[in-house]
Amino acid sequence: MKNTTIHNKSKDLSLLLDISLQMIEKTDLDSLLRLIMEEATKTMNADRSTLYLIDRERTELVSFFAQTSEIREIRLPLGTGIAGFVACHGTTINIDDAYSNPLFNRETDTITGYRTKSVLCVPMNIHNNEIIGVLQVLNKKNGVFSEYDEWLFKTYANYAATAIENARLHGEHEKMFLSAIKALAAAIDRRDPITSGHSERVANLSVEIGKAIGLSKNELKILKYTAVLHDIEKIGIRDAILLKPDRFTLEEKLEMNKHAQYTEEILKEIYFTGEFRNIPEIAAAHHERPDGTGYPGNLKLDQLDIKSRIIAVADIFDALTACDRPYKKSFSQEEALDILRAEAEQNHLDSSLVNILTERLKSPE
Ligand SMILES: [Fe+2]
Ligand SMILES: [Fe+2]
Repeated sequence: MKNTTIHNKSKDLSLLLDISLQMIEKTDLDSLLRLIMEEATKTMNADRSTLYLIDRERTELVSFFAQTSEIREIRLPLGTGIAGFVACHGTTINIDDAYSNPLFNRETDTITGYRTKSVLCVPMNIHNNEIIGVLQVLNKKNGVFSEYDEWLFKTYANYAATAIENARLHGEHEKMFLSAIKALAAAIDRRDPITSGHSERVANLSVEIGKAIGLSKNELKILKYTAVLHDIEKIGIRDAILLKPDRFTLEEKLEMNKHAQYTEEILKEIYFTGEFRNIPEIAAAHHERPDGTGYPGNLKLDQLDIKSRIIAVADIFDALTACDRPYKKSFSQEEALDILRAEAEQNHLDSSLVNILTERLKSPE
């Protein structure tokens, strides 16, 4: 009997380890909450589960539940019902018959037509014993929740709490990073007000093309950040050239063309973590051409990241259609696409991406 218990415990612990590894990989809070609830229901052999997070500023308990493709939330005053009690006192509540417990609020059952019987509700603690939320499973499938279940679920909830805290921190860092990037893009726009909005338009168009070819959520994020930053070098171009109202001389054009190289130099000063570390090279390659006649590196198609090729298409399209220079006529979408197709025929742009953009503009979503 004792051996069976030890066997179950080690089996459950290795299952928890597996789940917690999956949790750590999820940096997006919505999908993390979904995973925590789905796995809680399965692991505890329950009928359903609810996750509550504490909103200390508003002294509310926010409950999350999965509904089709999104996570919905309901807010309750902190202290309400079983979950509220657990959130305030940090104790575990394990009851066989919810209706006989005065803390249980039948209102939700009345609205949903559900019949709650057994309830196991535990606090979610992070490292310094701070409670960040509450996890609850309802209606154990065979019988009621045992003392062992309490131990298992408390361990599970603490793993989940740490994963949520990590995802939140990750979200905060990313917000800070994105705001720094936006500030840089705004600084470029301030220098050259005539082309203002170019970086953002190129970013939006690039993301549209990226979505159409099925890039992953993560790749789209990298594409967006890179496109926002692609012209960062304008910060280092002399005013006399950058703000020149007439056409460039050959020398001035060469100086403007140097900018792709400056892009990489400037961006390499930023510390990009893991997935973002190739942003400087991808951004710097937006004037390269598949046939190797572009600049600054004369890179060829197989050396070019798909994201550089996308930004190249979006960049030229926006430059052609924007009314940004007094001496320059802006082209209609159709005319711009004709020019892009001609460029693609000469292998100066990725033709499959030009086709995607053409389709996209013909039938926008
Ligand atoms: Fe450029
Ligand atoms: Fe550009």
